[in-house]
Amino acid sequence: MSEQIYWYTARSSGIVALVLVTTSVVWGLLFSTRLLQGRPSPKWLLALHRHLGGLAVIFTAVHIAALVADSYVEFGPSEILVPFASEWQPQAVAWGVVAMYLLGAVELTSLLQKRLPRRLWRWVHLSSYLVFWMSIVHGLTAGTDAGTQPYIVGSRIAVLLVVFLSVYRIMTKRTVKLAARRSNPRPGRPSPGSALQESPQNPVAVPVQAG
Ligand code: HEM
Repeated sequence: MSEQIYWYTARSSGIVALVLVTTSVVWGLLFSTRLLQGRPSPKWLLALHRHLGGLAVIFTAVHIAALVADSYVEFGPSEILVPFASEWQPQAVAWGVVAMYLLGAVELTSLLQKRLPRRLWRWVHLSSYLVFWMSIVHGLTAGTDAGTQPYIVGSRIAVLLVVFLSVYRIMTKRTVKLAARRSNPRPGRPSPGSALQESPQNPVAVPVQAG
């Protein structure tokens, strides 16, 4: 048992990291879709989303440290840092290595969010979807436990949740855009038969349909 402690740690921390990546993505989507309609509050959802992301980084670090400490397969700096450098299952491990870099970039840009251009932060942040999918593939192809019933059921639930919420997010964004376009066909240019109207509720004048 004592010889295998690192191997058990690597496996369990990998699974915990994957659960944290999944829940962070799910919480982020629950926040952006407003699916829960304000209960719990968006502020709480966002704070939890951030904490889950931070914890995912910590457990990924534990996962890697345990792999290095475990002597069954040789994992040194190059196997950890360079995709396909591992002699043991190079492809399966490469998914984890790339996911690790992306997760690091997402976390770093989130910590520096206020100092970065919003577009840059957003593009990097969107790669958290890749972190999720790569971690799923990595876990299923590299993991010792990947063939077990709980692992398979857990992965399926994670995939279904993320797919459902991502599709919901895309659909609601499209609906909002279409509604905005319908009420204002050409932003900045009033359409024929419309007039600019300003009100206390609407301090910036927007075109409104006459009649
Ligand atoms: C976002 C980063 C990562 C996540 C979320 C992650 C997650 C996982 C998961 C869920 C497993 C399956 C555990 C099991 O079934 O027992 C696993 C296994 C494994 N991962 Fe990672 N991993 C990440 C990064 C890495 C990196 C950077 C390496 C680099 C070497 C790596 C190497 C491995 C290896 C060798 C296994 C097989 C362990 C075993 O079952 O014997 N992972 N990982």
